[in-house]
Amino acid sequence: MNFQNAYADRKRAQAYDELELGGTYRLVFDRLPQLLSTHVAGTRALDFGCGTGRSSRFLAGLGFEVAGIDVSEQMISIARHRDPRGRYRAIADGDFSTFADERFDLILSTFVFDNVPSHQNRVRLFSGLSRMLAPQGRIVIVVSTPEIYTNEWVTFTTRDFPENRTADCGDIVRIVTTDYSDARPVEDILWTAASYRAVYRESGLKQVHSESPLATGKEGICWLSETTIAPWRIDILERATDL
Ligand SMILES: C[S@@+](CC[C@H](N)C(=O)[O-])C[C@H]1O[C@@H](n2cnc3c(N)ncnc32)[C@H](O)[C@@H]1O
Repeated sequence: MNFQNAYADRKRAQAYDELELGGTYRLVFDRLPQLLSTHVAGTRALDFGCGTGRSSRFLAGLGFEVAGIDVSEQMISIARHRDPRGRYRAIADGDFSTFADERFDLILSTFVFDNVPSHQNRVRLFSGLSRMLAPQGRIVIVVSTPEIYTNEWVTFTTRDFPENRTADCGDIVRIVTTDYSDARPVEDILWTAASYRAVYRESGLKQVHSESPLATGKEGICWLSETTIAPWRIDILERATDL
């Protein structure tokens, strides 16, 4: 499969930086503070796939000491520009050597694994992340549900991609973000909840919580599918065994 990271691109990175925590993203960013305070002890956080730093700044606002890493130089360069005192680093894919001597209470990864091809790649990345967890540390990941690619949303459209409906796990699917100034579709990889669970097991991780937040309808936003269909899933993971 010829799959490119859509975020290794200057125009896309600039557009991505326009996004805040609102629109459809609210479903996740409104829910995370309570989930983190329930499941995470400690303040050392790694933001895996931090992009332009939106999720890192969000974590810092909750009191975490954050290191943000990403494979896209273009995204990291904007993150640094936006937050010169923040700790951001571009890494080669799966190279966590910078953090060989560090352990994290929280590893957050929002909207990143949608861009990771293949079961083996996912296992390699989750295994590497798991080794950086403190003993009671948690990985919190936010990923797209298959339904995000077949419905309409306040922040996304998929109506031009009817082929998404017949995509299988591991296939490329396309989605356009309507809340920023880049109308080009992003290519993601469809991945089911069952296939994520298989990846976690093989990576030595145990799922301790999973939920797919919906809008209540009381947010004052004219939602499209958000009150009835969940676009994202939040999974919380711990190490299955001590290393
Ligand atoms: C949709 S953006 C999300 C950015 C940020 N987490 C947020 O919520 O604003 C996905 C990011 O994941 C990064 N990414 C994709 N594959 C990655 C990998 N293997 N390692 C690290 N970052 C990766 C992309 O470069 C991109 O910046």
